[in-house]
Amino acid sequence: MKKLLIFTLLGTLVYACSQSGGEKSSSEPTASTPKVDGEKVYKTYCVTCHGLYGDMGASGAFNLQTSVLPVEERINVITNGRKVMTPFKDLLSKEKIEAVAAYTLTLKK
Ligand code: HEC
Repeated sequence: MKKLLIFTLLGTLVYACSQSGGEKSSSEPTASTPKVDGEKVYKTYCVTCHGLYGDMGASGAFNLQTSVLPVEERINVITNGRKVMTPFKDLLSKEKIEAVAAYTLTLKK
């Protein structure tokens, strides 16, 4: 009878230890980079000249609703600038430029 008691005590002890000590290594929240929101970039950097819908044309800004430029060329214009349009290569990451270029395509009428 006494033996059984010791066993149960030992059992609970081991159980208690494993509970406190065995902290699960919490799985990190997935570190995959969140997809860049091209619309947000556009509304931050581009509306001053192109306007919310791309057709404002301030400082002679090209109407993005009628632009037929392919996305690679848009990336080029945004990265390196063109005439009055300032280059964005120092302001925006490659991912952001690609995202905003893709967003300008959605302005097309
Ligand atoms: C300082 C005003 C200004 C800002 C800010 C600006 N643009 Fe422009 N953008 C222009 C002007 C002016 C042109 C026309 C350049 C020319 O005549 O060669 C242009 C042209 C373009 C073109 C080429 C369109 C075509 O069919 O030729 C694209 C694409 C474009 N802008 C996208 C953007 C995006 C995206 C942003 C924000 C990241 C932006 N622009 C910010 C003034 C601006």
